[in-house]
Amino acid sequence: MGETSSTQTGADSPVVVVANRLPVDQVTDPDGGTRWQRSPGGLVTALEPFVAGQGGAWVGWSGSAGDGPEPFESGGMSLVPVPLSEEEVDRYYEGMSNASLWPLYHDVVEKPEYHRTWWDTYVQVNKRFAERAAAVAAENAIVWVHDYQLQLVPALLRQSRPDLTIGFFLHIPFPPYELFTQLPWRSAIVEGLLGADLVGFQRPAAASNFVQLARRLHDLPARGPTVEYDGRTVVARAFPISIDVASFDELARSPEVLARAEQIRKELGNPKKIILGVDRLDYTKGIGVRLAAFEELLEDGVVEAPDTVLVQVATPSRERVEHYVHMRETIEQKVGHINGVFGSMAGPAVHYFNQSMPREELAALYRAADVMLVTPYRDGMNLVAKEYVAARGDLGGALVLSEFAGAAAELKQAFMVNPHDVAGVKSQLVRALRVEPAEAAKRMRAMRRHLFRNDLDHWATSFIDALRSGAHGGGADRKADRDAERSARRGQPGAQG
Ligand code: ADP
Ligand code: F6P
Repeated sequence: MGETSSTQTGADSPVVVVANRLPVDQVTDPDGGTRWQRSPGGLVTALEPFVAGQGGAWVGWSGSAGDGPEPFESGGMSLVPVPLSEEEVDRYYEGMSNASLWPLYHDVVEKPEYHRTWWDTYVQVNKRFAERAAAVAAENAIVWVHDYQLQLVPALLRQSRPDLTIGFFLHIPFPPYELFTQLPWRSAIVEGLLGADLVGFQRPAAASNFVQLARRLHDLPARGPTVEYDGRTVVARAFPISIDVASFDELARSPEVLARAEQIRKELGNPKKIILGVDRLDYTKGIGVRLAAFEELLEDGVVEAPDTVLVQVATPSRERVEHYVHMRETIEQKVGHINGVFGSMAGPAVHYFNQSMPREELAALYRAADVMLVTPYRDGMNLVAKEYVAARGDLGGALVLSEFAGAAAELKQAFMVNPHDVAGVKSQLVRALRVEPAEAAKRMRAMRRHLFRNDLDHWATSFIDALRSGAHGGGADRKADRDAERSARRGQPGAQG
């Protein structure tokens, strides 16, 4: 983040982004002092360069309960904090967003809970976000609302500011009719999203899930990617998100990062092979299956520690939500068990870090890793997989990737796995560990070619262009969506959305 300074952010922003979190979190140190640090997660990674480039405004929560600071300038953006009380954090963020919607939208990997008090607070907080956005958006501005925490904001904004052009992008999967309809407030969510001119998803199957819902649940006329609603045409399309590929590539080539990658290998005891996992500590990410596969390979004698080590970096996340507390305990017990059995005086088999790390350190880890393990049970996209590929300008390394990550539709030369199949994960991990350098380079080159053509700028520009052009998309775009939907229906395992 750049310098921060206080400002009187006025009602004049031509581009406004609205997301649950600001790109920076306010944290309180043990001595009572406060400071700002980068917020976790893929949404911030993707959006920060876009908003900074536009000099736009970003409306979001500061990450801690209380009154929240005044609007301020930071890194070329106007940041507009939305305050949340303790109770709102508990019910809107931890409850409705992360214990109801998050598991429901991720294939009910854990059982969602539904509580009316959570829903009432979700409505109340969505209203507050909509009011803040309405207050800072210039006449006829573009307002781009993000993610599952704010699905009512498009309709609320349209009521108060019909002059605005409103886009919505969902960063996580969108479930099919059969799952979504268990939500007691399903109609309100669909109506909330229909307030947008353009509703963007990671995958074509998710967009078509949404159109089907509007048709079947609300009996609305729908054709291809469009729904007729309230005298308007709402378009639902896929815009697979990406990263700033060139800047990550450049960072990973810098002499400092390369030197640090060497040093990391040394600090780990110069193992022959390093396997790496980097995630938020979330039950959707399949960290447990990775540990199980690695443990079995050690038991089978297929790999040996500390010749081969697994480095798992897991950023703390949503630490007061029950499922997360439980999963952290399970993961840490498993790491302890593996190290108890397979560690030696020379070092552990699994190096586990429950920490957030700077971008430079992650880039060095990506460079040091022989195999990157990305095994979510379900993931909207997974930017870590893209960061790994962007970091491997040397064409080294191998990516093991879950079929159920959105990224699998693009990084087709990865070693694909079904994370529910431990035997399959084991055999693909072994293939990746033993791949010939020439084949590894061929796979990496193809994935990098795709990524450089489909970077963050491409994602943001195509969304904003589609939104500006009345969100009607050209014939070619519609054809691309139809083709993708068809191939999704042909039975790609990750095609659910
Ligand atoms: P999600 O949005 O679910 O967290 P993604 O893989 O799409 O998942 O994005 C995660 C982002 O967070 C990436 O940009 C990644 O570099 C970053 N990240 C993940 N783990 C860490 C960590 N331990 N320290 C710092 N950043 C991290
Ligand atoms: O898109 C995934 C996402 O949930 C974002 O909405 C969010 O900002 C990020 O992951 C991190 O989660 P949280 O804000 O709950 O820490």
